[in-house]
Amino acid sequence: MSLDKGQISSDLDKALLAIASTNDLDSLKQIKIDYIGDKSALAKANQSLASLDPGQRAEFGKLIGSARSEVNQAFELKSAQLSKQRDSQVLLTEKVDVTLPGRRTLKGGLHPLTILTNEISDLFIGLGYNVAEGPELESEWLNFDALNIPADHPARTMQDTFFIQPLEAKLVLRTHTSPVQIRTMLEQNPPIYVICPGKTYRADELDATHTPVFHQVEGLVVDEDITMADLKGTLDYFAKSIFGNEVTTRLRPSFFPFTEPSAEVDVFFNGRWIEWGGCGMVNEKVLATCGVDTKKYSGFAFGMGLERTLIVKYGITDMHDIVEGDIRFTQSFGVGKK
Ligand code: DAH
Repeated sequence: MSLDKGQISSDLDKALLAIASTNDLDSLKQIKIDYIGDKSALAKANQSLASLDPGQRAEFGKLIGSARSEVNQAFELKSAQLSKQRDSQVLLTEKVDVTLPGRRTLKGGLHPLTILTNEISDLFIGLGYNVAEGPELESEWLNFDALNIPADHPARTMQDTFFIQPLEAKLVLRTHTSPVQIRTMLEQNPPIYVICPGKTYRADELDATHTPVFHQVEGLVVDEDITMADLKGTLDYFAKSIFGNEVTTRLRPSFFPFTEPSAEVDVFFNGRWIEWGGCGMVNEKVLATCGVDTKKYSGFAFGMGLERTLIVKYGITDMHDIVEGDIRFTQSFGVGKK
């Protein structure tokens, strides 16, 4: 290959012009590769120096060397200038306005039903009770038979109870928390002091006053010399703790297959009597089924709906508010407040 001074100086001019006319760091890098990279015309010229005679080699060597260093310098200068421009642009476009107000994220929190369950559990633990739990998928025997609910009882129809297939398995979604009474008595000997809060199911449509999935709390005491006066005193204490010290309770005669005698418990709240739950002395048949010595022990039981308790306590008018989990509703119970 022969070398040509004119070609070298035109390569140099082209490189300087390309550098001068670019305004972008990426294309500047490419220009450097094109004009002084390994495959550039100047690099090739440099490689062919070896084939020249010594006199020409020195002359062309100098020429090519100074052309390459000129391109290099121009590149460095331009690169510094473009980097500076880019940095000041970044400072402008990515500027943080420290005076802007922050975005608040609402804190999560407990649902009012959970708060109430915890409150009731704490209250009874304070009285020396244990908290028991049972499965939501329950055997028909524990949900009905052991509680002295006869086979032809209306609660045992498909309209009221969710039966699980295959029907021969005799499983239901528990319709109340009362089967936990049976489980407890089968597992433990008296004295028994338990509450059983939990989820319960009935084949109702969701509307302003009903929900197919709801919650109850069951209470059960089995000990020596337990009377209805103990039941009344316990319910009174329970009601005052939940609704306020000024409330009183009354018992109205009623019927439940698993208690004898049975009663409805009402609370006098906000100037009127409100039905709150069911209660009674545990039916001897139920005690006997669970192997409790009925000569020695007697017991009382009660069961309240937790949704109902919230509705009464807070004057909630629509069940949808309790089940839908809208933060605007739960906020009023201290959930999601800053
Ligand atoms: N299990 C009853 C229900 O769901 C409520 C109930 C009534 C529970 C009386 C009791 C009780 O323990 O003694 O309607």
